[in-house]
Amino acid sequence: MSQQVKTRVEQLRKEITQHNKNYYIHDNPTIPDAEYDRLMRELQALEKEFPGLQTPDSPTLRVGAQPLKEFGQVQHKIPMLSLDNIFDDAGVEDFDRKIREGLGRDKIKYVAEPKLDGLSVSIRYENGIFVEGATRGDGSKGERITENIRTINTVPLKLEGENIPDVVEVRGEVVIRKDDFEKLNQTRLEAGENLFANPRNAAAGSLRQLDSRITATRPLTFFPFGLGDISEEVSGSHWEILQQINAWGFSVSSEAKQVTGAEELKQYCAQMIERRNGLDYEIDGVVYKLDDVYAREELGMTSRAPRWAIAHKLPAQEELTTVESIEASVGRTGVITPVANLKPVNIGGVTVSRATLHNQSEVDRKDVREGDTVIVRRAGDVIPEVVSVVKEKRLPDSEHWKLPQQCPVCGYPAERVEGEAALKCTGGIHCAAQKIGTIIHFVSRNAMDIDGLGDKLVEQLAEQNMISIASDLYDLTAEQIAGMERMGEKSAANTIAAIEKSKDSTLPRFIYALGIPQVGQQTAKQLAQHFTSLESLQTATEEQLLEVDDVGPIVAKAIMKFFADELNQQNIQRLITSGIRWSVIEKADENLSHLFTGKTVVLTGTLSSMGRSECKEKLEALGAKVSGSVSKKTDFVVYGESAGSKLTKAQDLGIRCIDEDELLGLINE
Ligand code: IVH
Repeated sequence: MSQQVKTRVEQLRKEITQHNKNYYIHDNPTIPDAEYDRLMRELQALEKEFPGLQTPDSPTLRVGAQPLKEFGQVQHKIPMLSLDNIFDDAGVEDFDRKIREGLGRDKIKYVAEPKLDGLSVSIRYENGIFVEGATRGDGSKGERITENIRTINTVPLKLEGENIPDVVEVRGEVVIRKDDFEKLNQTRLEAGENLFANPRNAAAGSLRQLDSRITATRPLTFFPFGLGDISEEVSGSHWEILQQINAWGFSVSSEAKQVTGAEELKQYCAQMIERRNGLDYEIDGVVYKLDDVYAREELGMTSRAPRWAIAHKLPAQEELTTVESIEASVGRTGVITPVANLKPVNIGGVTVSRATLHNQSEVDRKDVREGDTVIVRRAGDVIPEVVSVVKEKRLPDSEHWKLPQQCPVCGYPAERVEGEAALKCTGGIHCAAQKIGTIIHFVSRNAMDIDGLGDKLVEQLAEQNMISIASDLYDLTAEQIAGMERMGEKSAANTIAAIEKSKDSTLPRFIYALGIPQVGQQTAKQLAQHFTSLESLQTATEEQLLEVDDVGPIVAKAIMKFFADELNQQNIQRLITSGIRWSVIEKADENLSHLFTGKTVVLTGTLSSMGRSECKEKLEALGAKVSGSVSKKTDFVVYGESAGSKLTKAQDLGIRCIDEDELLGLINE
């Protein structure tokens, strides 16, 4: 193999590692994702062609390896200790006093750090190269989770800079950031999978995977907080050690601070309590550590924890309470969610009396019943949720709880939407809970696109009984709107103008705006293309509806039922009479012939060169059907930045996946 190839591989590795660091450590990417992916693919291709060039620190290995049968054991040369806990200011003073007395000093320098709520791991480097990752286990023996740790982007595979000891173990906590956790659970909810109770459980479950390819799809982050085994000394100050760890390419929490004496420790703790909800990750306390590493030995250990450090636990974000009742709550979009009404309980300073149970499968999995004693959790801005049931305290006559088959608000049947875990009310505009929601949907950007009619204004108008159905919008006057809160005459006139402008619409938009159950934008488009007029759609038979690609028996029935409904008919009639119009639809070009023509394409992630709807339009112009979920019927998956489970699923199903570069090439063919 030529020197040229070798040099290119080294250069690619260096570039990718730097981009990785810019993205994950500095939060400051300098190239588009598509370019990053291109570099990665080039490196993968070269390593495949020249296996001799593969190195253990190659970023290509972060995607995970073949599954293990079991984890091996790792004996920690330096035990991974636990910490004693304190809970209040008196505990802080006591800790500081014992250290002052033990060392015979007046003022003690400390490092105060957030106590991250994750799992502690030890990561070993030999000659600067990542060689092993291990869990804490019982403190002296842990599990070897090397391949899982390798997938974590904030763990360097090769240490950078100076002062790299022959052997060094960096220790710290693996966590999942709050926003990543929300996204992860949302994806699982949509896929009908069990939800993780909290970021810590999600991190633990992800690290415990024998298949590191699964771990690679989880958004794990690593925050170092110290060193384990080391072949040569780095510094006598813990603060300096943390700076050195950063210089090796890690990212120590920016909340770590140098402080002196008990007063400053207490101040640090008070500040962290204030900042807690705003932090990116969950903390369950703060940790105080003696900065002078040599003096630590003088203090020694208690039975299981060192005397030179302590954990100051913060008030819990989980509390015990009882479920007084469970109700089915109907949201604006008709989604029926089980909600627990709780005996009010104070969690971290906030009274909580309701908690979401997400959906029926979550109720079943946790088996939450009325009268149960439960653990409720509230973290930051997240909606409080029932974590688990204390089964020992269950009442003998309690019964399993099931969502009703009818909407509790309007009595219309509730149905499960295909491919979703949620149960939905089919009442549409008959349902008082959905009245506002259907109007908000009607005016939204992809529907009638009425600019200036925001959710708040729709709510106010509905509350004042000025609108109760979409067709009422076209009878509104500027005076009525001007009478609403924070509405001047000018903005009222603008809103009326926007309502007027929306009358020039398109048939697909209008069909979508009606909010027919099961009919999203894509189906609306296909219905418009197929029937070309509203009248033919309204009078279509089931057989005719089934001729449309996206329409199966469930959707066909929903459409027929919608148009058979008298209130819907009146609404449509009034909308048309008020002047809504569209130009005649041309039938799809049957002479089109392109790789995408007649194929089902799924978009996932964010594209850098165009928005999702623009991309969709381009694909549709080429005759593609753009669908929202990946199945065996999918022909292509187009993926952009932060593509998640859809991409993984497509890869598992062997579906051709196309990145942005390739897509642009194909579109322009
Ligand atoms: S220091 C001897 N620092 O808390 C020092 N631990 O209760 C050992 N933890 O097992 C740990 N954040 O999992 C330290 N900034 C931090 C920490 C931290 C979280 C966890 C760690 C440890 C447990 C001890």
